[in-house]
This record gives sequence, structure tokens and C-alpha cells, in this order.
Amino acid sequence: MKKNEIYNTDTNKLIRSISGDIAYIDPPYTVTQYISAYHMLETLAKYDNPVIKGVGGKRDRENKNSLYSQRSNAKKIFEDLFRQIQFKHVLVSYSNQGLVPIEELCELASHFAVDGRVEINYFDYQEYQNHRASKKRNGKSLNEVIIYFEKDLSIQKSPINYSGSKDRLVPMLTKILPANIDTFIDVFGGAFNVGANIFALNKVVYNEMNPYLFELVKMLLNSDKNKLINRIELRLREYNLEKGNKEAYEKLRAFYNTNKNPLDLYLLHMYSFQNMIRFNKEHKFNTPVGVAGYSEDIRDRIINFKTKAPNIELLNMDYVNLCWDEFGDNVLFYFDPPYYITSAAYNDGKRGMKGWGINQEIELLSTLKMLDNKGYKFILSNVLKHKERVNTLLLNWIKQNNFKVIDAGVSGWRYAKNEILVINY
Ligand SMILES: C[S@@+](CC[C@H](N)C(=O)[O-])C[C@H]1O[C@@H](n2cnc3c(N)ncnc32)[C@H](O)[C@@H]1O
Repeated sequence: MKKNEIYNTDTNKLIRSISGDIAYIDPPYTVTQYISAYHMLETLAKYDNPVIKGVGGKRDRENKNSLYSQRSNAKKIFEDLFRQIQFKHVLVSYSNQGLVPIEELCELASHFAVDGRVEINYFDYQEYQNHRASKKRNGKSLNEVIIYFEKDLSIQKSPINYSGSKDRLVPMLTKILPANIDTFIDVFGGAFNVGANIFALNKVVYNEMNPYLFELVKMLLNSDKNKLINRIELRLREYNLEKGNKEAYEKLRAFYNTNKNPLDLYLLHMYSFQNMIRFNKEHKFNTPVGVAGYSEDIRDRIINFKTKAPNIELLNMDYVNLCWDEFGDNVLFYFDPPYYITSAAYNDGKRGMKGWGINQEIELLSTLKMLDNKGYKFILSNVLKHKERVNTLLLNWIKQNNFKVIDAGVSGWRYAKNEILVINY
């Protein structure tokens, strides 16, 4: 038996649930709505005696107008298609007379392609014409093109082992992204597992309040990768750092606390107890030695750590001080705050840094409401229930505002939790 599958659904919905090797896309490219041109076939297939209208005796379109045939939406819906498609090889048929100019379509595809590479093949083709089609080429030299690219399907895990990392949430989070994203703001950036993996057309913004973590992310993103690995490996040998070697670890830790060099903090976190980046009130790094250390996996993660968006802005501030209106149009804010009903070393308030209690939770919810009032889109990561505890404040706020809750499954690098995503669009 052949395992073919057929679907009768909106492509942009379908691609969120299927994946494979090769996708061939032959979308409408003119303003003609197929539903209107093929109304007879639709009626024959349904045999439902519809009410018909107008000179052509057409049936009602039942809101089945394609966004690919709408001048104002065609490019946006392609952006969504390219962002969501989970196929390695993508082929798109289009025309030099399509609603989206070929150059723009290729440029758009390049944002989602491996190494930004897009191929284009031209074919001469007989022009399709109806009363609204362009006649400027006299029905002859229409160029049909096939655009090909290899979709960048990789998800890069941050080279920082960090409690609260959301790398496993990225596929789910990607599926619920809106169609049009110029700028993605990772408001509580942490180890930057999320923002780095989001295809924003213009820019991704990383914000993190903890200055030590911020410096680590900055170093990892901005350094020449091979030079950085050489420096790391040299330093490991210099201090004779090995898994569980307490003496060597404490020697480096003591040195780090005198000069606060991010490279040494990076080394320390690989060998520290549960990879914890923890400071005391005097801002001295104080995690004891653990059992893990530098590995091939970490090395690969260092090499592959980069953003999918073409530009990046790094901010080191308390999120309440962000200038929300300065990020331009089509911006999406992603909030992954410390969770009120769980605990982690970064939110206990005992580390010389602001903790996360009821006041912070209230402030966060009112910030999100303020963004919603201004018309901005946001996604909030959180948990509603954890070990008998329920975040009733969050639950009531979601109900009052009619925001959508999406079950995002289990996440968490060390302590698994049942995650939800709250969206306002
Ligand atoms: C759950 S973690 C984010 C993890 C991140 N999504 C990842 O996958 O790597 C929350 C982060 O918010 C930071 N943070 C806490 N309070 C903050 C504040 N007021 N402003 C900005 N960042 C804050 C913490 O230092 C922590 O790194």
C-alpha cells in the first residue's frame, strides 16, 4: 500500500504540522482568486445547489479568498510560509508578473535559507490571461521561475548551560509566531536560546539584567570562534581544570573574583555545581565545583552560536527601563521571566541582584497589559501550576484579558516544568 496523504486545508496552517524532505509550492501569483475561477468545479464536487450571484453565476466564496492573491498580504504570507516550513528542500513556482517581485521574493527566502543561498531558474511560459490579467507582454513572454533554497532547520543551543534555558521550547514557540516579524525582542534573554533561533527579518534584541551573564553572551557572540576555543583550551591546560578537580577549580575561582574576566567565568560555569552561575552579596562567584566540564558538545555549540536575524542589539538593563516604542514596526516581544511559583538561582534575590516576588510579578503583568494597549504583540512563557502551587494571579489576569494560552509541554534543562505560552494575538 502506498502511503500517500492528501489534505484539504490552508497551506500556512498545514505546514505547522507536517515536515519532510522536499516541498514544492505552486501558489497563486495574480489577483485572481482561484475560488472564483473554479466555482463550477467546486459546485460539481460538492453538488450542494448553492445560492449563486452575479453575471458569472458564482457561488459565495465562504471566506476562502487566498492571501497569496492579495496585494497587501502576499509578501507577509510568504514570510510566514518560509518561516514555518519544516522541509529541507523548498521549491517555489512563481512568475515575473506575480504580486511579489521575484527579487523581493528571493531576498525574503534568503533570510530562511542555509547560508542565505537562493537559486532561481527561469522558463518561458505561455501567459495565463483573464479579463484582469496583465496584457503588457501580449500573452507571450511570461517568465515562470522556480526558486530553490535549502531551509535552515537548525536549532542552536546556547553554549552556556543555564537553568531556565528554553532551547527545547523553540520549535513550539516558532509554530505560534505571527506572520510578520521585523524585530524580535528577547526581553529576559538569559543564555539567549530563544532570540538567537528566531528568523526576524531585520533584527533580534537580546536584553539581560545580570551583567555577568550579559558579558558571557556578548563574548560568545562577538569573538572569533576559533580564537575563542584556542583561548579556552589554553586556559584549561594552564589551570589543569578537570571534572571534579576542586583544587584547580577553586584556584581559578579565586583569580576570577579578583578580575571578573568573562572568559574565566565561562570556564568556571562549565565545571561548577549544576553549572550554576551564582554570586554572593559582594558579587563574588561562589558556586562549588561540580562533576561536569568542557566537552565536544560545548565546543560545537560555541562554533554554531549565532543569530538567525541579520542584525543584533545587545542590552544590559532591567527590562522595566526598556524604551518599548523604539523598536519600529512589526515587532514581537518575548518574555521569559523568572517564574513566580518556581525558584532558580537567578530569582531568589539573595545574589546582590533584584529577586522575583509578587511585586515583580504584578509589575510584569501590567507591563504586558500596557504593551497590549499600545497594539504590540507579545508572547509570555510561564507555568500556571507547579508541584501543587498555582499562579492564580496570572490565571485570573489571562481570563480577564481574554489572552490565549498554549500548552507548550515539558521544558527545563535541569528541573522539568509544564510550560505554557500566553499570546495576545
Ligand atoms: C528564565 S531565564 C531566561 C532564559 C532564556 N529564555 C534562555 O532560554 O536562555 C530569565 C532571565 O531573566 C533575567 N532577569 C531577571 N530579572 C530581570 C529584569 N528585571 N530585567 C531583565 N532581565 C531579568 C535573569 O537574570 C534570567 O537570566
